Amino acid sequence: MEKLIDESVQGQVLEQKTQNTNSKKLYIESYGCQMNFSDSEIVASILANNGYNTTQELNEADLVLVNTCSIRDKAEQTVRKRLEKFNAVKREQPHMKVGVLGCMAERLKEKFLEEEKIVDLVVGPDAYKDLPNLLSEVEEGRNAVNVILSKEETYGDVAPVRLQSNGVSAFVSITRGCDNMCTFCVVPFTRGRERSRDPQSILEEIKDLWSKGFKEITLLGQNVDSYLWYGGGLKKDFKNASEMQKATAVNFANLLESVAKAAPKMRIRFSTSNPQDMTLDVIDMMAKYHNICNYIHLPVQSGSDRILQKMNRLHTRAEYFELIDNIKKRIPDCGISHDMIAGFPTETEADHQDTLSLMEYVKYDFGFMFAYSERPGTMAGRKFEDDIPEATKKRRLTEIINLQQRHALYRTQQYLNQTVEVLIEKESKKSDLHWAGRNTQNTMVVFPKENYQVGDYVMVKIEDCTSATLKGTPVGYSTIMQ
Ligand code: SAH
Ligand code: F3S
Repeated sequence: MEKLIDESVQGQVLEQKTQNTNSKKLYIESYGCQMNFSDSEIVASILANNGYNTTQELNEADLVLVNTCSIRDKAEQTVRKRLEKFNAVKREQPHMKVGVLGCMAERLKEKFLEEEKIVDLVVGPDAYKDLPNLLSEVEEGRNAVNVILSKEETYGDVAPVRLQSNGVSAFVSITRGCDNMCTFCVVPFTRGRERSRDPQSILEEIKDLWSKGFKEITLLGQNVDSYLWYGGGLKKDFKNASEMQKATAVNFANLLESVAKAAPKMRIRFSTSNPQDMTLDVIDMMAKYHNICNYIHLPVQSGSDRILQKMNRLHTRAEYFELIDNIKKRIPDCGISHDMIAGFPTETEADHQDTLSLMEYVKYDFGFMFAYSERPGTMAGRKFEDDIPEATKKRRLTEIINLQQRHALYRTQQYLNQTVEVLIEKESKKSDLHWAGRNTQNTMVVFPKENYQVGDYVMVKIEDCTSATLKGTPVGYSTIMQ
């Protein structure tokens, strides 16, 4: 299930195939969004070339890395608890080194070394190529910190390791950083300015994944629709590009089309779309190519124009509805999901009702819903008092979640008696006689295994559903994708 913060994978330990020449052991744990999980694959790849094999046994690790998330206070608290655990192990194994990567490293910088005495290494999201140098520093007994954010780094030249995956779906990152400056969000501070990755390296990575048997990729970025390649450099500097660079620039719709053509039997997904940057040519491209999945994650955060403005979301409620209408006009069965924040500073009951009525209009297939958490350093953290009582935030959040639950069931019921195309990903969690995979709209489908295999595209007739899962009977291979 595609999620921004997938609770079921939080803290997952990455393990890759052993290289015989490597003698040291790396234990790497990841928290937060898909980008962090994807970055950990890059880190494991860089360290594999520097003497480290991954392990899932904390006790035998020479180096423990934790790739961290700062998006809400709770995410940071989870990491701090894990560091306490590592501390206990380190007391028994003093040779073990501990490093913090990702957004918390970037946000707290040297403070980490003062606050968390056990940390030897602090590395921000753009500095992973410096890890081998930093590790030599640590080996010589010094603490090492690199939290420099980059204008160019996209790790386009690092081939991520893909093990510990189901061998069917993979993430491919296409942009890094974010220029949007939503007032509640820490990402622009921890991940730096927005830059796009060379389309050639993206296409090569996808072809490589196809040759290894992968059948589905998710193009990743904080704001994928804003993708723009003009030979390298920051998105915000595009205005200074030469006429030639401007004329040959590649935008997100162009990229989607090249990817869809380069791997016609590969499912293409992307995440995340920001309403203000999603253009109709992207939706047209989705409608044109069967292998681009009919699913858009389109966070809105609030249904109130006043709150949207305070959040610096650069669109109105009416413009959002117009976008939803345009999507449904071009792709009537498109799956749509959202992120929503309850209890942003000054949110009134009327604002909250606007959020519920917006949800009623869209009837989202899925949603990821959060109580507002003030983040130090953000515009909202500096300028607005976090004035909504916790109990009110919780109550509003519960109302939002309950409504989402009803809409999810409404959406899954629409599939009853329909036949949908499913890519088999894995065995069902509940039964070893059933496969699990998703339809193009990203809804989970479970059905009897028969003679089908992981990675097959199968047509499934839907006979039953819950709000989260469709259940059915396979009726044959997909004639388009298989
Ligand atoms: N564009 C990003 C969004 C990053 S954050 C992406 O690609 O995933 C993911 C979600 O976390 C946001 O959409 C928002 O709903 C939520 N979020 C961000 N900052 C938050 C905060 N301070 N409090 C509560 N939720 C927050
Ligand atoms: Fe955050 Fe807004 Fe960018 S939510 S990641 S600043 S689009």
